[in-house]
Amino acid sequence: MKTDINKLREVIRHHERKYYVDDQPEISDAEFDKLMRELEELEKTSPDEVPSDSPTQRVGGSVSLGSRIPHRSPMLSLDNCFGKEELLAFGDRVNKILEDEPVEYVTELKIDGLGVSLLYENGIFSRGLTRGDGEFGEDVSGNLRTIRAVPLRLTGADPNAIPPVLEVRGEVFIPKHLLDEINVQREAQKETPFANPRNAAAGSVRTQSTSVTAQRPLDIFVYSLNYVEGYEFTTHSEALEKIKSLGFKCNPYTQVHDSLEDVVTYYDEWVAKREDIPYEVDGIVVKVNDLSQQNELGSTAKSPRWATSYKFPAHRSTTTIEKIEVQVGRTGVLTPVAILAPVKLAGATITHSTLHNEQEIVAKDIRIGDTVVLERAGDVIPKILDVLKDKRTGSEVEFSFPDQCPSCDTPVQRSESEVAIRCVNAGCSAQLKRRIEHYASRNALEIEGLGPATTNQLVDNGLVSDVADLYSLKSENVSKLERMGPGLTGYLIHEIERSKEAAAAKVLVGLSIFHVGETVAELLIEHFLSIDALSQADAKSIEAIPGIGPQIAESVCSFFTQNHQLIEKLKAAGLRCFTEEVAKKPPIIEDSFFTGKTFVVTGSLTDMTRTEASTQIKTRGGKVTSSVTGKTDYLIAGEGAGSKYDKAVELGVSILTAETFLEQIKEN
Ligand code: IVH
Repeated sequence: MKTDINKLREVIRHHERKYYVDDQPEISDAEFDKLMRELEELEKTSPDEVPSDSPTQRVGGSVSLGSRIPHRSPMLSLDNCFGKEELLAFGDRVNKILEDEPVEYVTELKIDGLGVSLLYENGIFSRGLTRGDGEFGEDVSGNLRTIRAVPLRLTGADPNAIPPVLEVRGEVFIPKHLLDEINVQREAQKETPFANPRNAAAGSVRTQSTSVTAQRPLDIFVYSLNYVEGYEFTTHSEALEKIKSLGFKCNPYTQVHDSLEDVVTYYDEWVAKREDIPYEVDGIVVKVNDLSQQNELGSTAKSPRWATSYKFPAHRSTTTIEKIEVQVGRTGVLTPVAILAPVKLAGATITHSTLHNEQEIVAKDIRIGDTVVLERAGDVIPKILDVLKDKRTGSEVEFSFPDQCPSCDTPVQRSESEVAIRCVNAGCSAQLKRRIEHYASRNALEIEGLGPATTNQLVDNGLVSDVADLYSLKSENVSKLERMGPGLTGYLIHEIERSKEAAAAKVLVGLSIFHVGETVAELLIEHFLSIDALSQADAKSIEAIPGIGPQIAESVCSFFTQNHQLIEKLKAAGLRCFTEEVAKKPPIIEDSFFTGKTFVVTGSLTDMTRTEASTQIKTRGGKVTSSVTGKTDYLIAGEGAGSKYDKAVELGVSILTAETFLEQIKEN
């Protein structure tokens, strides 16, 4: 019985691989579904014995958005080359360091998706992280295991040769042609469409619900073997072959070249074929193939010296402007938006483009009915590059900016000092809707399930008149809204409750204070420690913070003067950043062992987290950086220190054990 069930799992795994990884199915979908149903039935007889790598166990795993899990080694980014000159300059730098040894290059397509790492222990998928900030990633294991091209168990000719620990890295993506389908669905549900396949991939992986991810047509190409125990390789291409044999999906268009001239040919070929590739590719990646050469070249804090990306030119297309609408932003700024005849650009159908402000329209002489060139460079939202004036027929209409807010009819305000035209009505419902959306956004309180559709209804039905009202929403009122069943309502209320735990800087961002984004909010909280203290500060003391100018200081002060009641309501709602005792920032000790020295902390320290260790160093006047370089004075190496330790040894950087470090902290 047990062997039957295991055999069936093996058979299903084989067909999953044939279908999702090799793209060479051997049986029909119906036959595959039948095998899955058979396995599900068999597993029902002993549900407690279903292993985590069974093909039935793809949905329902755990996800911990917001978690900060350290990467084994930093997930670096790549330097960019724009043009052949820059690529050749990259080659010159490589040759210089390698003293003109012969160099073989591997080229790969640079897939525009979401970078992730996948960890396997004894051949079983055990954890998947997003790239995060490169140093720490988020645990999205449950979502990554829903991707059928991610093996839950490694395969291989020799089951005894499965490495005990293996970490690969790759790019999760959504095929271009499926983006429009997802967006049609999203629009039907009054959700904002994804701007490009990359956002769709990121949005699908970074969600709390594995069943949402499972419905998205996500795929993956693994592009590197980051860590393995029990194997040695001499080249990157050899490592890729091994990865493939273990059941991972690698991009088929990888090539090895003897010279950068050949690399340029590869690039030119792919620029020409770019639109035919079924997934979004924003360039090629060029990597030195030999791993010992890679090692010799090493990395800067941000990117390896042995690799670069050679970017494709920006996507361009022409279309016409059908109308110009004016949108009201969360701070009352009125933004003209061009409504376009739909056009495909970089995998997405574009129907809108911001015109920024009235001046932009005047400067470019943009008229309704004009034919325009639309450009999208990399990640950036598409913009109107140019007006094709020779295509004008005379029927184009000049746009005149409205004198009243399109939402609340209040006369608009123009000022001498800025280009923005504003609606200054504090009660304008369009502004309120955008403020609530922003409050719930990823940069602020990260309340999932509070998109434009729900927000609009909450405001239109009078259920909220400021962000603090979110905390007194009642299930019975929310569940009456369109498309809000008891499930979604429960989830939303839970998410709102969860947001009470948000850090002060996040809440500050969420308040939609003019000129206060993430960086400014961090600076303000770092200085004042709490929103309460900040709200009582005068412009002078705010302006005294390095990096904060008079405009920001003025805006913060006037916000708190006008929004006293809102802050009191948030306090009463029980947001943790208002209620908890704020730790007094310890004064910087100016003369200590740490003063003026640069530290890197790695591995796990017994008595404190790495963040705490960093704080201790900083308060003693030391500097903490993320990678070991010639400028590092000390590496603090805890349990399980890896590549940073090796690097420190290689560069002759002094190493402190966790114990010595703690002793120094006590003494200083
Ligand atoms: S190599 C240190 N190879 O591009 C080496 N990256 O800025 C870096 N990417 O976030 C990764 N396709 O997620 C590599 N074939 C490829 C890639 C690739 C896409 C992404 C990667 C990273 C970004 C680099």
